[in-house]
Amino acid sequence: MTVDKPSASWDPDSAHPTSDRVAIDVHLGPGELDRALRRDVETGLTSEPKELPPKWFYDEQGSALFDKITRLDEYYQTEAERSILANRASELIATVQADTIVELGSGTSDKTRTVLDEATSTGSLKRFIPFDVSEEFLRHAAHMLAARYPRLEVHGVVGDFDRHLTEIPTGGRRLIMLLGGTIGNYPPAERRRFLSEIVSGMRPGDHFLVGVDVVKDPARIELAYNDPAGVTEAFNKNVLGVINRNLRANFDLDAFSHIAYFDPEHEWIEILLQSDQDQRVTVAELDLEVEFYTGERMRTEISAKFRQDRFENELIDVGLKPVAWWADANGDFAVSLAARPLAEPAT
Ligand code: AVJ
Repeated sequence: MTVDKPSASWDPDSAHPTSDRVAIDVHLGPGELDRALRRDVETGLTSEPKELPPKWFYDEQGSALFDKITRLDEYYQTEAERSILANRASELIATVQADTIVELGSGTSDKTRTVLDEATSTGSLKRFIPFDVSEEFLRHAAHMLAARYPRLEVHGVVGDFDRHLTEIPTGGRRLIMLLGGTIGNYPPAERRRFLSEIVSGMRPGDHFLVGVDVVKDPARIELAYNDPAGVTEAFNKNVLGVINRNLRANFDLDAFSHIAYFDPEHEWIEILLQSDQDQRVTVAELDLEVEFYTGERMRTEISAKFRQDRFENELIDVGLKPVAWWADANGDFAVSLAARPLAEPAT
């Protein structure tokens, strides 16, 4: 039996207290998220067709449901990405030579820790910059990671992907990570804008690492978004719960059906809520009444699936140079590594 008790003479926490190594910048003022929700709901429910952006899935209940999704057998993505990062961490860290890692939509997940373990033990990592919309989550994660890595500086940034990427601290040689297939939520034009924004903050020698779900048998993709246990259904309907709770609306979650299907033309999963009846919904905080007809469909998310050649062309289009494409053993999911080149290629 081993006793895992720190000795009194060497305690990493007292040598480098976590509080000295954690800083958090908050770029979302109080009430800002609330105003953004109001704007999106007002616009989305008065558009034709109605639509709600996927970013509002993730309140406490929604985040817990998503966490459950990542552990479903049908949802292959999380485990596939985890295995890729575990297999490639040393190659990744040796290639990028980063002293700073930025994680967009940061995690406390074992995927992040796999990369940080490698970068702190064999690499020259000095600083980790988690970027997330939730201050509470970010503070918790930052202190946890600072405690795990006794020499690492953790500089968290609380902000919104669409507005605060420019607030991410620069300096050093950086690896910017966007894991989990999040990029699939952007339709092509927005995706290009988002990638360009990331690249504009990168210096030559910086790298970008992004997880993407791969085009495959539509039946398998559709099953991942129509799990028999109904977790994805509850996750999708939770966006109505978010509106009920935050904007005093009266959506009846049982009066809508979850729909998810693969659109072969766009090669994305489309996730919708379909009204099961003619109904009227009140959003008290917005002084808004909206009607749904039987069968009316409201889009809540797209999740794009990628092919290596096309995705790498998108990276090239925004000025990046593809460096590696790492797939899992089944070819279900891929992690793409790209660099901001040292010099513009001669023309
Ligand atoms: C977090 C955006 C990658 O698109 O697969 C999971 C979200 N939606 N099940 C995805 C999601 C329904 C997920 N992303």
